[in-house]
Amino acid sequence: MIGNSDPLATQGSSPVDVRPTGAALGAEIRGVDLRSIGEAEFRSVHQAWLDHSVLLFRDQTLQDDDLIRFSRRFGDLDIAPVQETGRRFVEGYPEIYVVSNVVGADGEPIGSLGAGEAVWHTDMSYLPQPPKMSMLYAIEVPPAGGETGFSNMYAAYDGLPDALKRRIEGLQIKHDGTYNSGGYLRQGVTATDDPRTSPGAIHPLVCSHPETGRRNLYLGRRRNAYLPGLSLEESEALLDELWRHATRDELSWYNRWRVGDLVMWDNRCTMHRRNPFAPDSRRVMHRTQVQGQSRPAA
Ligand code: OGA
Ligand code: MN
Repeated sequence: MIGNSDPLATQGSSPVDVRPTGAALGAEIRGVDLRSIGEAEFRSVHQAWLDHSVLLFRDQTLQDDDLIRFSRRFGDLDIAPVQETGRRFVEGYPEIYVVSNVVGADGEPIGSLGAGEAVWHTDMSYLPQPPKMSMLYAIEVPPAGGETGFSNMYAAYDGLPDALKRRIEGLQIKHDGTYNSGGYLRQGVTATDDPRTSPGAIHPLVCSHPETGRRNLYLGRRRNAYLPGLSLEESEALLDELWRHATRDELSWYNRWRVGDLVMWDNRCTMHRRNPFAPDSRRVMHRTQVQGQSRPAA
């Protein structure tokens, strides 16, 4: 929060223009150039991000250096995971992960996730300490499709019937590390479809957000998820029921990308997915991720 010593706060107005989407989450921030954002503006953006979980900034012109510099204001960045092709990262920018269907001169895709659907997921929750924030910047967008949807996992938890809340109290969930959201096998992992034995991290199924204190459902992704301690059949049935609640349309908001859009999301209390788009059109996005400061906790 902005303290009383802040002259802008005492004027009673936020230094940035926050426009909630009107959907279950998300807000657009107007009138900010992310290359040169001041301290008071930054604090307002940070608060708006905690309040709305997803922020959209339009009409930005960011080089990788600008994207990294802005991302770093939220904390230390992760080194990007290896691309599906085994390619490591953008030359000279180990923090940048490329999401793209574009095929390079060597015949290999320059990034990950192709042009297909990316299913609902939370980023890298198969790790013990997943990133707290992801930022995606649109460099090239297809004329149609490729929209990214976000869903509110606070509201998903709040909206569960009481009996279901009681049933999942204290349960843990394994977040699978075998496949990414495009269905591609991760680098260095052996394919397996047994949720009980697949690699991954175990987290509380209901987490408390370390900054807002609010409880949220923490599902990660559906494929190969498992609720340890339950039989496979019980685990599958309960997960299916939770996913039906968590993926209702009224919990989500979609961004229809324009070149120059920067979207940043709170990876601890949201999920996201992507619509497919025509494989012969081009989509190029650069992503950074800010390290989490703590493990997901109940
Ligand atoms: C991601 C992701 C979806 C998209 O970058 O983590 O899931 O719309 N991207 O590109
Ligand atoms: Mn993702």
